[in-house]
Amino acid sequence: MKAARRQYLLAATLAGCAAAAHAQEPPDLLAPERVEKGRALFSESCSYCHGEDGIGGESGAPSLQGRKDVTAAELFETIAKGRINGMNIMPAWGDSLTEEQRWTLVGFIRSMLHRGR
Ligand code: HEC
Repeated sequence: MKAARRQYLLAATLAGCAAAAHAQEPPDLLAPERVEKGRALFSESCSYCHGEDGIGGESGAPSLQGRKDVTAAELFETIAKGRINGMNIMPAWGDSLTEEQRWTLVGFIRSMLHRGR
């Protein structure tokens, strides 16, 4: 039983590595269709904490508008892995959203680069 579990962990780890290696920004990150899809997905899964259009929420979730301080790759990484900062918890979406969906969310966030602050 123990060996089987180790094998499972190894497989999961390798799968994780493969996913990270292929996490490359798509060339159509800011294509209007992608941004629109991202807006809908964001409204469904993220606005609960981040506010409509990522304006920032009361739960400690930061604004995602005008984020010139983070790269697209960093946004992708945080969405996949989540982050815990004391009481502020950003859930990990690597298991529930596909890589394509996560880039679509990054596209939407990127489309708001010149909004807000
Ligand atoms: C349960 C509440 C919650 C949900 C739902 C949530 N987030 Fe977050 N998110 C947070 C919090 C809280 C932080 C800040 C964590 C910290 O302080 O480091 C955060 C941080 C982030 C960051 C990092 C921003 C930075 O400053 O680097 C990104 C990007 C992000 N969220 C995107 C998303 C996306 C996309 C979704 C939907 C798939 C989502 N979040 C859903 C609570 C949430």
